[in-house]
Amino acid sequence: MSSAVRTFFALVPDGGVRNAVAGLAQDVARRADARAVTPDAIHLTLAFVGDVAEEKLPKLEAIGAALPSAGFDLVLDVVGSFARPRTAWVAPTLVPAPLEALHVRLRSMLADEGFRVEERRFAPHLTIARKCEKPPERATIPPIPWRPTGVSLIASSLDGRGPRYRELGAWPLGVEFTAA
Ligand code: 2AM
Repeated sequence: MSSAVRTFFALVPDGGVRNAVAGLAQDVARRADARAVTPDAIHLTLAFVGDVAEEKLPKLEAIGAALPSAGFDLVLDVVGSFARPRTAWVAPTLVPAPLEALHVRLRSMLADEGFRVEERRFAPHLTIARKCEKPPERATIPPIPWRPTGVSLIASSLDGRGPRYRELGAWPLGVEFTAA
């Protein structure tokens, strides 16, 4: 019998952006009496797929490879929280058209291939703290500019300390192809 893998597609910041978001997470978690998301778990979910039989993973990889690759700039400039679950997030006020288009294309390819798709509206955000005792009010922050370099397909598993992520595949964004 095949086992199921919990999967999602995401943008994963690296280097300076990851450090900046991790620093913000520490700061927000302290004030919210919450648990900061660890730097290696920081991501922006493009589409949550959920449990998938292992033999269907190549289909998800094919979808990742067929996604639009247009690059875009994001400015993470607002912090807020969801009441349920009690999480805090950082987000861009403006959602650039290529990000929206990437999400729409991903959803439609997932649906075409028979994967379950989320009905809820796309509200791009990076969760930075969990279990907030004092969830932060929505507030603007000094902007963190971010040009995502790729889309990742991630497998999520739970251990005693929370979710653990493993990258199954990654496809570049914003790479110009020139004729040889
Ligand atoms: P979150 O950051 O707001 O918690 C892996 O669980 C990722 O998929 C998380 O970033 C989570 O969002 C997102 N996600 C979206 N829909 C989900 C769902 N129905 N269940 C769990 N995670 C979901």
